[in-house]
Amino acid sequence: MEARVTGPAPVCLADYERLAEQRLSANAWAYFSGGAADEITLRWNRQGFDKLALLPRVLAGGGGGNTRLTLFGRNYAHPIFVAPIAYQKLADDDGEKATAAAAAAQEACMVLSTQASVALEEAALSGATCRWFQLYMQPVRDATLKLVRRAETAGYEVLVVTVDAPINGVRNREHRVGFHLPPGVTAVNLRDLPALAAKPLGKGASIIFDRFVAAAPTWDDLIWLQGQTTLPIVVKGILTAADGRRAVEAGAAGIIVSNHGGRTLDTLPATIDVLPAVAEAVSGRVPLLLDGGIRRGTDVLKALALGASAVLIGRPVIYGLAVSGAYGVAHVLRLLRDEFECAMALSGCRTLQDIGPDLVPLRRSST
Ligand code: FNR
Ligand code: LAC
Repeated sequence: MEARVTGPAPVCLADYERLAEQRLSANAWAYFSGGAADEITLRWNRQGFDKLALLPRVLAGGGGGNTRLTLFGRNYAHPIFVAPIAYQKLADDDGEKATAAAAAAQEACMVLSTQASVALEEAALSGATCRWFQLYMQPVRDATLKLVRRAETAGYEVLVVTVDAPINGVRNREHRVGFHLPPGVTAVNLRDLPALAAKPLGKGASIIFDRFVAAAPTWDDLIWLQGQTTLPIVVKGILTAADGRRAVEAGAAGIIVSNHGGRTLDTLPATIDVLPAVAEAVSGRVPLLLDGGIRRGTDVLKALALGASAVLIGRPVIYGLAVSGAYGVAHVLRLLRDEFECAMALSGCRTLQDIGPDLVPLRRSST
């Protein structure tokens, strides 16, 4: 792998973001970096972390420190996972294959998007840690089942069912550049699936309600899906205590507290702000994960302190991919893991079990 960076080497995730903006086309930059509408949630995700102060414990040295965890019966070296991001060939010709190889090199669990731009079988072969498949339930159950069977056959071990994006948000950044998928970048895994015949909309019909919402999944579909597979199902996109409880009751094996990186409904709260309420409602019955705005090792520490078992990072992975291909993704993951270990050491935590809410009792009113 050859590094494609010129100039000062990036030393943190924000450096990768700046370099990626220079490298990506305006079209791809709008897609990857943008949020919904005024991008208030996108900003709040970051501010949510920045306003939390950490309180350390001193003189807590000693051997045996590590970042290991177990989820759904499998051991992971650290709790920094790669979030599902669609159309990664927009950032690099090898797309998700490069990301999967880098994730494996850094022992990071990767979640592959339903809307990946490479075949899910190819991504699985490219990286031994690409074992979770993000599923968008399809309007036709047979289409959903085909995807699930392919994922099972390819060796995926967990299904992440995303429930917060039955339609795209109002993505003005994409509108301004006229975002389009260039030739060669498509959702290849959705090819040749049984689809609903698109009925013409009657006079006065709403394309949102009568087409998209009418075909969108419901809790009944989630319960049906549980009966179709033995894979654990993790529900991605929960923000409230009530939905957290409902997901557990519907049989979810885990929950990802997420607002889709601020890309769906603008002014949804920061994920770190709602995590404690969801954690309280779920009360340890299933593991919680969190994504949205994680850019520093201290953010990972705060998420774990407030109840997450692991976190996922989205855009920074893509920025690494855009700047230096698989090498950049591997570097982004390594940087964040090093920062996280540093944050653990400096706050007096030797294992993930030492990370608790006492680390973040202080909330600053402004940053
Ligand atoms: C996403 N996200 C996403 N989620 C999902 O379940 N399926 C998908 O295909 C995608 N695609 C996607 C594309 C792009 C460009 C972005 C930025 C995000 C959401 C993603 O998994 C995750 O929730 C957020 O990206 C986390 O926020 P950060 O780390 O990007 O701030
Ligand atoms: C997105 C979809 C693919 O956020 O989830 O772009």
